[in-house]
Formats: sequence, C-alpha cells, structure tokens
Amino acid sequence: MASIEMKNIVKQYGDGYPAVNDVSLDIADGEFMILVGPSGCGKSTLLRMIVGLEDITSGDMVIGGKRVNDLAPRERNLSMVFQNYALYPHMTVYENIAFPLRLSKTPDDEVRRRVTEASDVLELKEHLERKPANLSGGQRQRVAMGRAIVRQAEAFLFDEPLSNLDAKLRGQMRTEIARLQRRLGITTVYVTHDQTEAMTLGDRVCVLRKGSIQQVASPRELYEQPVNLFVAGFIGSPPMNFLPATLEGDRLQTPFGPVVLDERRAAAVRGRGELLLVGIRPEYFEDATLVDEAKRPLGSVFRARVDVTEWLGDSQYAYIPYEAPEAVTTQLRALSRELDSEELRTQAIVSIDATSRIREGREAEFWLDSRKVHVFDPQTGENLTRDAEAGARLTQMATEDRVEQVQDAQASGQTVSGATTGGGQGSGAHRAGAV
Ligand SMILES: Nc1ncnc2c1ncn2[C@@H]1O[C@H](COP(=O)(O)OP(=O)(O)OP(=O)(O)O)[C@@H](O)[C@H]1O
Ligand SMILES: [Mg+2]
Repeated sequence: MASIEMKNIVKQYGDGYPAVNDVSLDIADGEFMILVGPSGCGKSTLLRMIVGLEDITSGDMVIGGKRVNDLAPRERNLSMVFQNYALYPHMTVYENIAFPLRLSKTPDDEVRRRVTEASDVLELKEHLERKPANLSGGQRQRVAMGRAIVRQAEAFLFDEPLSNLDAKLRGQMRTEIARLQRRLGITTVYVTHDQTEAMTLGDRVCVLRKGSIQQVASPRELYEQPVNLFVAGFIGSPPMNFLPATLEGDRLQTPFGPVVLDERRAAAVRGRGELLLVGIRPEYFEDATLVDEAKRPLGSVFRARVDVTEWLGDSQYAYIPYEAPEAVTTQLRALSRELDSEELRTQAIVSIDATSRIREGREAEFWLDSRKVHVFDPQTGENLTRDAEAGARLTQMATEDRVEQVQDAQASGQTVSGATTGGGQGSGAHRAGAV
C-alpha cells in the first residue's frame, strides 16, 4: 500500500491537445480518491498515467515515495480492477485469483496461503472451485479484487467499473466496493462520471474539467462549499438552482423576491458586478406553511405559481418557472452543455415535504433558507461567498474518519498482510519521499 503523488502532470496526445493539464494531486496511504468530471475531461488519461499505460508528457508521478515515470506497468505494482472482462472463463475462481502468482512462478504452498487469505476477506471461500460464469456480478467483482490482493498491489485503480450494470446492481456493487476498500485499507483511485458514485464512495473527490482540477475535497465540502459554478452544478441531484440576482444593500433581488445576506456574504459580493447568480439547492426551500414560527425569520418567504409537482413518497419536488435576462440564460445554457446535463431551463426545482398540499397550477407560499445560498460571478463562475475555512473543516473531519476506520480495520485483523504495512497515518504520511 502506498501514497500517490502527482506533480504538475501534463499529457499531450499526438495532436498537441492537453488532455491533462498541469494536475497536482496527493493521494494519501489508504485513501479512497475519486476522479470525476464530464466525458472527455481527462479522467481515464490520468488513471492510465498512474498505472503506466500512458506516457507522461511532463511532471512527476511518485508512488510510495518513488518516481515511477519511466517504470513499466508491471514494475509499478498497481492493480487495475475491472468488472467482468478480466476474468478467465475456463479457470476456477481459485485459479483466477492465483493467476498473477502463477505468472511470477510463486511456489504452490505460498499461492495456497495467499489465495486462502484473500478469499477469507472477500467471503469467496465457498466458491473457489466454481467458474466465473456461475457467479453473481458482485462475486465476480470480488474475484477481480482478490487477484489484486494476492499480488499485494500498492493501490487499486478502477475505471468506471460499474457503468454497464443496471441501477440496482450498481447500488449493491457500490456498497461492496466501499466496504472492501475500508476493510483492506488499500489506496484506491476510482474514475467515474457519476456524481452519486463520487459522493458515496470517496474520502475525497477530485473534480476535473477539460484536463484541469477544479476542486479536491470531501463530498461534503464539495456540496456545501463549491469553488465555482461548475462544481456547484456538477455535484448534487437534482442540481443546484441558479437564479439571476442584483445586490441592493445587503439584499439580493431575485425573481423570487429579496434574499437577505449576512454581513460576511454581503461584503464578499459587494462591488462584484451588476448581475450575479445566486445558487440555491432544492432542499433550501420548503412549503412556508410547514415551517415553524421560530425558523421562519431565518429565511425569506415568497409566493410563486407552481408549474409541476412530483410526489416521490419520501419527498416532493415542485417546479417554479421564472424570468431571466438573456445574459444569464446564455451562461446557464453553456454550463449545462458542459456538464452533459439536460437543458437547464429557467425554472427552479424545489424540494418540499412529502405531506405538503402544494399542487401544480396553483400559487403557493414558499420559504427559502437564505443562510445557505451561494452567490456566483456569472462571468468567471467564481463562488464569491465560499467559506474556505468551513470547507476545510469538513474535509478535515472526513480525513479523521478515514484514518480511524483504517485503524479499526487493522486492529480487528481483517486486512490482508502486505496490504497493511504502513497503515493510514493520515495526511502527513503521503508527503514523505519527494523526488
Ligand atoms: N489516444 C488518444 N489520442 C488522442 N486523443 C485522445 C486519446 N485518448 C483520449 N484522447 C482525448 O483526451 C481527452 C481526455 O480523454 P479521456 O479518455 O481521458 O476522458 P474521460 O474523462 O475518461 O472521458 P469519458 O468519461 O468519456 O471516459 C479527450 O478529449 C479525448 O478525446
Ligand atoms: Mg474515461
């Protein structure tokens, strides 16, 4: 197990186009790092440079304190994990797991010892004599991971391993991967374009856009303190609403009436242009009749006509159309194209309590929690109201949780030998061994 450090990594393909553009990223020992972003942003390219399948144009790739730019994939001792295609159908589960050891001519009793140990952890003991075709998707995934474990790989690398599964299986597999990664405490880099996978699996998530890092943070920090419009729009489902706004004193004038900003936010926004974009997540809204008196003054209340409602059992969405100037709609259209999302129409998606009687076609009163809104510069996309300290605290908490979980796993002896050496000592450890 090892840390992975990337320093100013650039990848230019033959045509000179920088698919990865000056990426610097430190991944700690035992950390679960997600690379996420829309199609073509360079996720696979970056992963392939880590594993050694792609040459690095410039920059340093350092694994376990050692510069590996010029090492072949075999010499890096990393393991790419795939869903199906990497298993040999004619071999038993036992032989599939043992495969890399056979290649390196490991003695039989050592093979038996390591395969037994891995199959214990992976709960595959009863299936060792079966063929992959007779296994469930989840079991096959575990066999693929078993192969990585017996090799005592320094890290696991996944490239969209769940993308061709149906939604239910994808959910199960996601849980499985998360559980195993924690138990094994192996450094993991996982590529996806699915923001749900990114949010549920990662200790930290690296959001990429056109080959450049936008933000690296815990899922909660990305959600609550995004650096820009791109990250704010990418993370969260249904997505954040972006409404046009102008600042008058400490009030934002929005299509839904005035929103009062606290002093910190008002100061951050003042003088930053005529037209602003206010970012409001669906759950910052509520049916005003369901908000208790004590909470009401903490937000603003407005009346609006509801276009459509969607009742989902545990929650309910209401769609509220609004008017926006051309400058704003042009900007939002460009953003949604870039995010591969559906067209962002000029309507707000509002999440309200499942018991709300608000119905489509009617006018209703809504409450908006103004303490949580963010304000963006529509030209640069910068989040003007981001609280960097609050964000850093969230990511620090996630790091502490990870270190604790890895230690727990090690204490209970569930990790596999070779995968545990040097266990998660936290953020200091991965700085060791500069080039
Ligand atoms: N072999 C190649 N030669 C030239 N350009 C390439 C090559 N492979 C990838 N690219 C380009 O590099 C950029 C990044 O590609 P990459 O495959 O890393 O994206 P990705 O983020 O993994 O996208 P996806 O989500 O679609 O898998 C794209 O613009 C792509 O067209
Ligand atoms: Mg890809």
